[in-house]
Amino acid sequence: MANIHRIGILTGGGDCPGLNAVIRAVTKYAIMDFGLEVVGIAEGFGGVVRNQWRLLNLEDVSGILPRGGTILGTSNRDNPFRYPVMIDGHETYEDRSSESIKNLEGMGLDALIVTGGDGSQSIALKLFSMGVPVVGIPKTIDNDLMATDITFGFDTALHTCTEAIDKLHTTAESHHRVMVVEVMGRNTGWIAIESGIAGGADIILIPEIPFTFDNVAKAVLRRRDSGKKFSLIVVAEGARLPGGDSISKKTGLGRNVLGGIGDVVSHELAALTGIDTRTIVLGHLQRGGTPSPFDRILATRFGAKAVEIIMDGDFGKMAALKTPNIVAISLEEAVKGQRRVPPDGELVRFAQAIGTSFGVTSN
Ligand code: F6P
Repeated sequence: MANIHRIGILTGGGDCPGLNAVIRAVTKYAIMDFGLEVVGIAEGFGGVVRNQWRLLNLEDVSGILPRGGTILGTSNRDNPFRYPVMIDGHETYEDRSSESIKNLEGMGLDALIVTGGDGSQSIALKLFSMGVPVVGIPKTIDNDLMATDITFGFDTALHTCTEAIDKLHTTAESHHRVMVVEVMGRNTGWIAIESGIAGGADIILIPEIPFTFDNVAKAVLRRRDSGKKFSLIVVAEGARLPGGDSISKKTGLGRNVLGGIGDVVSHELAALTGIDTRTIVLGHLQRGGTPSPFDRILATRFGAKAVEIIMDGDFGKMAALKTPNIVAISLEEAVKGQRRVPPDGELVRFAQAIGTSFGVTSN
């Protein structure tokens, strides 16, 4: 067993349900079974750069299992190697990695747990290569990490989207409308395809499968001609327009973020079909709320495994689900590739088999 006295944990990137379950599992296992001290670092890597942290005790993690968000806070912008700073009213980036490593040393850590998606794990890998004893835990509602069968947060997001699609079905049916539901997922269509199948969507549009508006309109009109006066369309935020571009919009602070494809699909369809078409963007609702039992269990398993990896002194690894086990894989493998929906895979094929259109000619 490695000589470990104090470990740190941070939650980086976009939040998701289950982060508190990880923090709780890590803290309880580390304190109760190994007598360690646990440092909670604030606001992801922001707290590493700015040296913001506190000791966590059992009381701090009591009652947080069902809570969404993260008691530590997070940031999807603060990167020690590319830290955003304002100079003369303009945003620019600075390398703050050596200061960050000094801060981590000052915290007295024998190991650092980085809970995050591919961006956070890439930073973890860089820090590891500079000598920081890091262990990763994968999270993201997008479920787009190649190295683990599933990330926690995804299941809860699916529940949120499926419930929304169920509710939209009834109002679409009453008004004979087409409802377009835009969901998250970045450049992958996992949330869209799985919530679309679970919610019985008629058309699912994902980044991995190029669609045309004509084909989407034909699918809607075919349904109308067969007597179904409404249609439900689920579109992933990263779905690409015919031509290959994705759609982004500006936040209030002028930052470009994915989003807006739902409205484009809606307007094009209304023009092509003459049917009243409305859009709903589920947005950050998908990241909020209490984690599902599945996500609580997965997050707890990942947290406990991370502590065991640390006690084995097996740094530079990430906990991953290789069903049925939680295993330790290298951080290199963890960030190697993005998991995308296979266009010829079983999920797409079976959805098509039961009449779901992906906006391609064949269905
Ligand atoms: O990666 C999680 C995610 O929610 C994506 O699905 C989405 O594109 C992005 O984060 C949104 O991030 P932000 O918090 O910056 O709006």
